[in-house]
Amino acid sequence: MTTRDMQDEILRLKKENDICILAHAYQSHDIWEVADYVGDSFGLSEQAATAPQKTVLMCGVRFMAETVKILSPNKTVLLSHPEAGCPMADQIDKELILQMKDRYPDYTVVAYINTTADLKTVCDVCVTSSSAVKIVRKIENPNILFVPDCNLGDWVAKQVPDKNFKLVQGGCPTHVRMRAQDVEKARKSHPDALLLLHPECHPTVTAFADYVGSTTGIMSYAEKSEAKEFIIGTENSIVQHLQFKCPDKKFYPLSRDCVCNNMKLTTLADVYRCVKGTGGEEIHLNHDEIIKARKCIDEMLRLGNE
Ligand code: 13P
Ligand code: SF4
Repeated sequence: MTTRDMQDEILRLKKENDICILAHAYQSHDIWEVADYVGDSFGLSEQAATAPQKTVLMCGVRFMAETVKILSPNKTVLLSHPEAGCPMADQIDKELILQMKDRYPDYTVVAYINTTADLKTVCDVCVTSSSAVKIVRKIENPNILFVPDCNLGDWVAKQVPDKNFKLVQGGCPTHVRMRAQDVEKARKSHPDALLLLHPECHPTVTAFADYVGSTTGIMSYAEKSEAKEFIIGTENSIVQHLQFKCPDKKFYPLSRDCVCNNMKLTTLADVYRCVKGTGGEEIHLNHDEIIKARKCIDEMLRLGNE
């Protein structure tokens, strides 16, 4: 089977079996081409809440498929590859948050969406990289306990200086590989390029950015910009996708090490097996967990769309 043949079969089967394919922006280009929707975590959550199909296949990592299940509990939700997790989502457990809530009772617990469903049950509101600043600004409480990504938390805190932040020490093992030395090297090699970064990068790296934003934010900034060259500081798949979107512009990875092995686990063949009914993993969450975790996701969608 060629790539094209497999894609045609996927398109036929997803229609026949009433499956919506959602793909995170870090998925490979051959998967993008068969997806109903491609985007960042916030866009995926919105799609998950409104997709009309009875089955949703999430090509991404586990917390994203859990979010779909929380928002659409009556649908069959499949994760494209059973081993695709997000190491950051597993960094802190519920007990730590419960202890912190006892210690800081007057703080609103803001959870990055890259957290497990279980952790979300004890948080007040979720945010994504694209919605975090807007949502935190709208929270009435001036005291914010931000979990688990301290780099994103630090970046949000800088944009919302009137609030008091407490951060926990977590983060994305992929984005923290990028260092200030990488910026120095890339700027030397590409002096005319703009530096576009994800807020999961370390503050010593984001300090040099021309633009900081989510995966979708980075892509639309590069598309709309008059500039012709860009250094991209996020998962390297975005460099490839941008080359397709803007073939007349040039894109360089900030570091060749910025590869998320979990996002890379899903292949087109996995997607093919999922739509055939022989692959992926169906997500099951208990009713109580769904009800409790949903509150903070609903709050994110409400504040994000206000
Ligand atoms: P966004 O999709 O919000 O840009 O987040 C990136 C990410 O690391 C997802 O795991
Ligand atoms: Fe998790 Fe980082 Fe991979 Fe995103 S890039 S899925 S935050 S490990």
